[in-house]
Amino acid sequence: MRHLLSAGDLSADEITGILDLAEEMSAVQDRPVKKLPALRGRTVVNLFFEDSTRTRSSFEIAGKWLSADVINISAKGSAVSKGESLRDTVMTVGAMGVDAMVIRHMASGAPWQVTGWVDASILNAGDGTHEHPTQALLDAFTLRRHFRRLDGGDLTGRTVAIVGDVTHSRVARSNVLLLRTLGAKVVLVAPPTLMPAGIETWPVAVSHDLDAVLPAVDAVMMLRVQRERMSGGYFPTPREYTISYGLTRPRLESLRPDTPICHPGPMNRGLEISAEAADAASSLVLDQVAAGVSVRMAVLYELLGGAEEMPVTRAHEVLA
Ligand code: ASP
Ligand code: CP
Repeated sequence: MRHLLSAGDLSADEITGILDLAEEMSAVQDRPVKKLPALRGRTVVNLFFEDSTRTRSSFEIAGKWLSADVINISAKGSAVSKGESLRDTVMTVGAMGVDAMVIRHMASGAPWQVTGWVDASILNAGDGTHEHPTQALLDAFTLRRHFRRLDGGDLTGRTVAIVGDVTHSRVARSNVLLLRTLGAKVVLVAPPTLMPAGIETWPVAVSHDLDAVLPAVDAVMMLRVQRERMSGGYFPTPREYTISYGLTRPRLESLRPDTPICHPGPMNRGLEISAEAADAASSLVLDQVAAGVSVRMAVLYELLGGAEEMPVTRAHEVLA
């Protein structure tokens, strides 16, 4: 694997390989000394043109725990704010000899363009409303762990509801691709105004009735209402959105008790998710955050491992 751009580029075997490696990587989180030598001498640059808390910091932690050198560049505070273009910024960073660039950009497709400008491995950390593949991997990791503990199974044959602002959600797009590859069924629930055009061609079921869907699903993934991407009125008022599409306390009570609740974060508490649901025993929100580090360690290792410092087999020995 040279780049990680789309969840749709990964086969079921590749996804399972990454999730299995992430399981091994997760052992590092419980150790007093959180350091493996696997990527010593490798350099990773986080290039973030859009704000982030989870993705940027977990890629940084993941790189550092694997002993890579990690540098952060964000639009604010860099020459981007002086008007430097994406191409010039990326080629400038590339000229320094970095091994990987983790890119978040407001333009859908930007990471694909970047692959033509530099030799480094490119990881898509969210491009516009298009894709966020490592989010889908960490969601699959979190849900697979949940189902393994629940009944020993995996994601095959499970039904996952993805609820909310699907139109603006790269998380939804990457999750649909990844969950379908793993054999799960997806039902998208949103008001008609927040359902993307052409949805009938997606390999999913579609509903506008959250109450009808909830009792029948194996997992619920709530999406943030992305007001920063909205120009007009997609719903009458926030209150009405919550009444129809929020995971409110009564809806939480309508779920089977073992139905996990996911949200990629950041959450709008009181809008798409109530505090009761966000903090419920069945909420996996913080498990998702923890999984983000393990999964990004696995992905960085897949892309950059195999250097002289630590062949794959030795890395596994160190992790064992
Ligand atoms: N943090 C996720 C993203 O960047 C989801 C969101 O912002 O709502 O796509
Ligand atoms: N889930 C996610 O991508 O969060 P950030 O926007 O904080 O990175």
